Amino acid sequence: MEDRGDRRASGRLITIEGLDGAGKSTLAAALAGALAQRGQAVELMREPGGVPVSERIRELVSDPALAIAPRTEALLYAAARAELVAERVLPLLHAGATVLLDRFLDSSLAYQGAGRGLGVEQIRQINLFATGGLTPDITLLLAISPQAGRDRVDGRGQAPDRLERERDEFFERIAAAYDRLADAEPRRIRRIDATRPPELVLADALAAVDALSPSA
Ligand code: TMP
Repeated sequence: MEDRGDRRASGRLITIEGLDGAGKSTLAAALAGALAQRGQAVELMREPGGVPVSERIRELVSDPALAIAPRTEALLYAAARAELVAERVLPLLHAGATVLLDRFLDSSLAYQGAGRGLGVEQIRQINLFATGGLTPDITLLLAISPQAGRDRVDGRGQAPDRLERERDEFFERIAAAYDRLADAEPRRIRRIDATRPPELVLADALAAVDALSPSA
């Protein structure tokens, strides 16, 4: 297996990525349920969040009333990730659990690296520091056009958060960056057509996860 840059024992790390409105949270809940039904120990967490410090950071980065410079934003997401990894993810992986994350490192590469124009490699470096190089075993990339994602977010009827208020060009840069990341790492990042019904998206996700070596 590829070097995953960490000291995990037997667990596995599955991440779900995509634009706002792609259906990540729906898939995450369904996938966690399906894996748990098979008797696997599964822990689902979201990013930013999952532990108290990171949930506080989530409030900061979501708040439309706050002005946050791009570099600050990148560091806040990295800090939230560092705490989640140290406090929850690594211990769970060491205990042999399947950890399912609704967003992880690739969100920062796409949103801050490309969306904010900070550079994917620079963002990768600060995240290497934040996580000690922890890399997912598999990443499920829910592919949807920026317009379709926007329509779904608008359809929720909730006030848009700080990032959801960004212009269409921002999300187009993010979608293109996700595609480049998937092209560069086809073994880790599996594209799933997220315009289809949720049960078909779940079936594809399960097939991709099943192709991994089983967790102990
Ligand atoms: P969510 O709405 O999918 O929970 O994600 C929160 C927002 O934070 C979403 O607009 C994407 C953004 N985000 C980043 O820009 N960089 C990151 O590293 C992460 C984890 C999320």
